Amino acid sequence: MSVGCPAVSVTGLYKSFVDGNEQVRVLENLTFTLPLHHSTALVGPSGSGKSTLINILTGIEPPDAGAIRLFGETVSHSSQKRWSQLRGQCIATVFQDANLMPTLSLANNIRLRAQLAGTSDANAEHWLNLLGLDNLGHRFPDQVSGGQRQRAALAMAFAMRPALLLADEPTGSLDVATARQVADALFHHQQDTGCPMLLSTHDPVLAARCDTTLSLMATGLGDP
Ligand SMILES: Nc1ncnc2c1ncn2[C@@H]1O[C@H](COP(=O)(O)OP(=O)(O)OP(=O)(O)O)[C@@H](O)[C@H]1O
Ligand SMILES: [Mg+2]
Repeated sequence: MSVGCPAVSVTGLYKSFVDGNEQVRVLENLTFTLPLHHSTALVGPSGSGKSTLINILTGIEPPDAGAIRLFGETVSHSSQKRWSQLRGQCIATVFQDANLMPTLSLANNIRLRAQLAGTSDANAEHWLNLLGLDNLGHRFPDQVSGGQRQRAALAMAFAMRPALLLADEPTGSLDVATARQVADALFHHQQDTGCPMLLSTHDPVLAARCDTTLSLMATGLGDP
């Protein structure tokens, strides 16, 4: 990875899905960069491809065409080993459905994530407190609410001290007050660490807090 390059540079990205006889075209010739140290809001109507784009950048969904560079390094979905290294060590992703290990407590989920990323100071309590989950570290994911799981997933992302944070509607399932708390934690983390962040959201207030905006259009294109 080269110092000074954009965090993400995407050129001519295409993605479609096949649904029966129909081709659902989702991303069409998408080109953008995510600058270092910036937060970028990923916006667009439901179905416009926000989660698909995040899945592609995470390496779990292959694009049909296009070039992706992360910190100047060209990455290819044909090299799954490299993608999985990046996912493990420097790209933190918070999905719409929180991705916790069901057999581990919240605190141990955080510790494991940090250890896998090679971070030595896995202070789970610090991250739990930051996200308003004080005293819930011992509980298992099925013993807390959906919003609490979502916050624990964010704590895991912070604990790995990522080089890039991809968050897919991190406040979507939260009440107004908790959403505000989580948003504050996200932006404080971004300001404290300078970690570039791509944040998909339907919330215009949250989008406005980001430095820049990447808008996806609903293509609505389908080949019968
Ligand atoms: N595996 C799949 N097979 C077929 N179509 C898919 C698949 N995954 C996603 N799609 C379609 O691709 C389009 C984009 O989906 P995506 O989840 O990326 O949208 P989104 O912008 O994240 O929407 P939302 O705001 O509702 O989360 C949708 O029309 C969706 O139905
Ligand atoms: Mg989505």
